[in-house]
Amino acid sequence: MPALVLLGAQWGDEGKGKATDLLGGSVDYVVRYQGGNNAGHTVVVGDQKYALHLLPSGILSPGCTPVIGNGVVVDPAVLLSELSGLNARGIDTSKLLISGNAHLITPYHTTLDKVSERFLGKRKIGTTGRGIGPAYADKINRVGIRVQDIFDESILRQKVEAALDFKNQVLAKLYNRRAITVEQVVEELLGYADQLRGFVADTTLILNDAIDDGKVVLFEGGQGTLLDVDHGTYPFVTSSNPTAGGACTGTGVGPTKINRVIGILKAYTTRVGAGPFPTELFDEDGDKLRTIGGERGVTTGRDRRCGWFDAVIARYATRVNGLTDFFLTKLDVLTGWERIPVCVAYEIDGKRVDELPYSQTDFHHAKPIYETLPGWSEDITQAKSFDQLPKNAQKYVQALEEMSGAPISAIGVGPGRDETIQINSFL
Ligand code: GDP
Ligand code: IMO
Ligand code: MG
Repeated sequence: MPALVLLGAQWGDEGKGKATDLLGGSVDYVVRYQGGNNAGHTVVVGDQKYALHLLPSGILSPGCTPVIGNGVVVDPAVLLSELSGLNARGIDTSKLLISGNAHLITPYHTTLDKVSERFLGKRKIGTTGRGIGPAYADKINRVGIRVQDIFDESILRQKVEAALDFKNQVLAKLYNRRAITVEQVVEELLGYADQLRGFVADTTLILNDAIDDGKVVLFEGGQGTLLDVDHGTYPFVTSSNPTAGGACTGTGVGPTKINRVIGILKAYTTRVGAGPFPTELFDEDGDKLRTIGGERGVTTGRDRRCGWFDAVIARYATRVNGLTDFFLTKLDVLTGWERIPVCVAYEIDGKRVDELPYSQTDFHHAKPIYETLPGWSEDITQAKSFDQLPKNAQKYVQALEEMSGAPISAIGVGPGRDETIQINSFL
């Protein structure tokens, strides 16, 4: 039985939530392995719409155990409010498991995220302001607070003291903000202990045992390949590893246990926040994609930047993630264009380049080389099989598949669970 990774192939918001939810019914565990509540995953079930930030999208499938792995950064206030929001809508969240080794986002991380962005001015990253970068920085600096620490008051106090020692100097002297007291933080974090205790578990052991027992485990990425801190458009990235390797470090499951890596790929491209984006459109087509695609951030409400499909990025995602499949989403949004340009390569300083350049300078100078494909005007939202798509939509999908380096095994033709054409089974 398989262990699968499902991740974003572009800059996030590809439709990972919908894809995860679709598989949720046949999966035993859905595991978030990195990121935190910077994610915004939309799931539409019947006439109900859910926006999940920290919780794995599998939480909406009754048979599935949702897991927050050690690689995630957890804001406990957000976690509890997301849980109670779902409980109020009749969703049972009691099966949730949280790794005791996951790091916590505390109010000083959120404050530092916001003030440091302000400090960067024009050079800002455009973060979600959720404290993600500062929490991961503390983890790597070895001054982070982990979920398990809130169950031992004396360890917690020592760790908060160590974390605040330096931060208070930065907050007061550099950013002119009031220092944060150790007591304030300790008291707040201890206040979560009773509510979280029942969820905390040795998730590494549970997940490895589950895989050995033949259970199906799905690792759900947040963000996307080009937001990866190692493989993305650094420094305009998030502070974790959404790429496939992150599923191993972020859960303690080894790479030999993972059978399949599915890249969620939007039929065009979007990006939120700052940073290079070769196929970005500043004209009516960009506005049209934004309007028809509903391209507005689920977490911050910001308009998403929109552009044509970029096959160089898709090929890169195949390479750095070892993708076995693509799930192409939002094909329905392209209905109505007479011709659809697709970026097949870049021109950089007068030369054609087929692979994503590793140099930041080159990527900033990359100009898309387009091939234009014929569009279609028929409504495709009711299509249930590949044959039911108009010929030109079929050709668009086939062209993308040839350029992207992995089979397109499913196609999204609408936001709902059943608005999906399954070509190859994922399980
Ligand atoms: P995620 O962060 O990758 O989970 O994606 P988001 O939820 O941020 O953004 C994707 C948006 O597209 C959501 O509003 C989904 O409901 C919607 N969506 C997903 N798949 C499809 C699709 O195939 N067609 C259409 N029209 N919308 C889709
Ligand atoms: P999902 O899971 C799109 C972007 C932010 C910013 C950069 C760094 O819904 O696809 P951060 O707060 O993480 O330090 O911000 O990353 N970003 C996302 N963009 N979708 C997301 O998540 C994102 N999570 C972070 O806009 O540019
Ligand atoms: Mg999103």
